[in-house]
Amino acid sequence: MRILFLTHSFNSLTQRLYAELSARDHEVSIEFDINDAVAEQAVDLFRPQLIVAPYLRRAIPESIWAKHVCLIVHPGIVGDRGPSALDWAIQDGEAEWGVTVLQAEAEMDAGPVWATASFPMRRGRKASLYRSEVTEAAAQALIEAVTKFAAGGKPVPLVQTNGCGKLRPLMRQTDRAIDWQRDDSATVLRKIDSADGFPGVADQLSGEPCHLFDAWPEAKVSRGDAPPGAIIGRRETALLRATADGAVWIGHVKRKDGIKLPATVAFAEQASKLPELPLDSWWSASHTTWQDIRYEEADEVGFLHFEFYNGAMGTAHCDRLRAAFEWARGRPTRVLVLMGGADFWSNGIHLNLIEQSASPADESWANINAIDDLAEAILRCDDKLTVAALRGNAGAGGSFLARAADQVWVRDGVMLNPHYKNMGNLYGSEFWSYLLPPRVGSEGASAIMQQRLPMTARGAVAAGFYDACLAGDQAAFLADVARRAAELASVPDFVDRVRDKQRRRAADEAAKPLAVWRSEELEHMRRNFFGFDPSYHVARWHFVRKSPQSWTPRHLARHRELGWNIPA
Ligand code: COA
Repeated sequence: MRILFLTHSFNSLTQRLYAELSARDHEVSIEFDINDAVAEQAVDLFRPQLIVAPYLRRAIPESIWAKHVCLIVHPGIVGDRGPSALDWAIQDGEAEWGVTVLQAEAEMDAGPVWATASFPMRRGRKASLYRSEVTEAAAQALIEAVTKFAAGGKPVPLVQTNGCGKLRPLMRQTDRAIDWQRDDSATVLRKIDSADGFPGVADQLSGEPCHLFDAWPEAKVSRGDAPPGAIIGRRETALLRATADGAVWIGHVKRKDGIKLPATVAFAEQASKLPELPLDSWWSASHTTWQDIRYEEADEVGFLHFEFYNGAMGTAHCDRLRAAFEWARGRPTRVLVLMGGADFWSNGIHLNLIEQSASPADESWANINAIDDLAEAILRCDDKLTVAALRGNAGAGGSFLARAADQVWVRDGVMLNPHYKNMGNLYGSEFWSYLLPPRVGSEGASAIMQQRLPMTARGAVAAGFYDACLAGDQAAFLADVARRAAELASVPDFVDRVRDKQRRRAADEAAKPLAVWRSEELEHMRRNFFGFDPSYHVARWHFVRKSPQSWTPRHLARHRELGWNIPA
């Protein structure tokens, strides 16, 4: 079928649904929801048999839904209605939640139901649940709905379902407000989780208005004599704040009229006066606390976790991770697994930190060099086998950083964006020009870079870019990774494998040193950062400020391609 996606943006859920339907031989084209006239034009051009709205922030115009079946993907259980579905589900402590695919009609979210899928809730940020459980359930429900539609099936009127959801209003900041005198840590965490990544909880730090994000529990540090709400310490980029019964960490903050930043950067002056509350090593702390980089070991396998918010890796993140990597290399293990974080493995250099720096061009340069140093450390690790295990999504430089490991294992369901051009024609580094072509061929590499389309985990393995696609379920994936890594550490020919690896690296180095690959890439990056064409700086400016879209990129809106033939 020809299926048109009407969507606010090409976010990860939309990417996943696009990939699922394309893999089932549907012809999918995308139009961003700019205004009614543009949407109507897209429908006229593409003549879709079905319209899907994976992520819309406003209603589809009647001129479209009255003539075409439009399937809305709603992140709520059957009967749930309103724009803050997940926010309420988290705040109300729902034990189970779901996604419903319903048909657009005059009344918002009240159309007949095509399909639904449910999942158990867990403690987590709204954006984390959205990228994981909601995306899985949406894929399942949409495939069911599309199959039913293609077979001539009909939806069930909402009143005939047993749905127990209800109409709920937009959640306002008054519903989210934290009462620092009364709210215990669990309540504070729930409130911030339900607003994360957008819009955050409106609050104040040191008397300055701001929005709070990225809350972590703290099990050990007591608030002592500090009153609830007081900031009592810092660790790396996070601030520890007293609650009614303990304390919670605040990882990210957005100041009034500012962009989202690590808390100690947004409130640098105040943070500099706070006591540092360091952990004494890279080892995983024995209690629940804020720890963005942590190491665990099981026999001859080391696991290095790095839980960087949004997968963004600034200069200091890269430097610290490289220090942790070098330390882990010194451990008496045979295999080192780079685990990334639960939601993201890495999305490359930290565009927000770059944006807020005094010189974004200089900071871009420092950041790309720091991430290249890390990639190089992984590539030069010649005494262990290394694995990148991707539980979460990876994009741009992050997806190539993973390729620096000897093997890359990826969780089924993960979405990858192994290309840079969307960020103002950025050339990219992280040794992609050395790592990608041997895997996918030079034509394959240039297609991946030019097409700028997302890749599924299975697609990446089929293309030869990554090595294995493992279980989709998070717990099953972790168990699979641990088992496979232990097997790798105990293969009888382990020593030969390491020697092979050393020989291959030496041969590659003789053919063309890593330093040359790096300096060739960085020459292009220097032009991107310091050259006369400001595209990268402009694209970054819009990206970090989330400027509304004003057109759909040509590579997504196939119906707008020159030469597109209107189907009969
Ligand atoms: N630096 C800073 N923040 C980043 C980031 C980066 N490199 N990559 C993603 N983010 C942030 C987004 O701004 C967003 O922030 P929010 O919490 O305020 O909403 C959040 O991470 C999630 O990103 P989003 O774009 O909504 O996720 P997605 O899953 O739909 O898309 C990507 C994933 C990777 C396609 C997209 O985030 C992207 O293009 N990132 C930029 C990658 C890049 O160009 N890196 C620099 C070159 S190495």
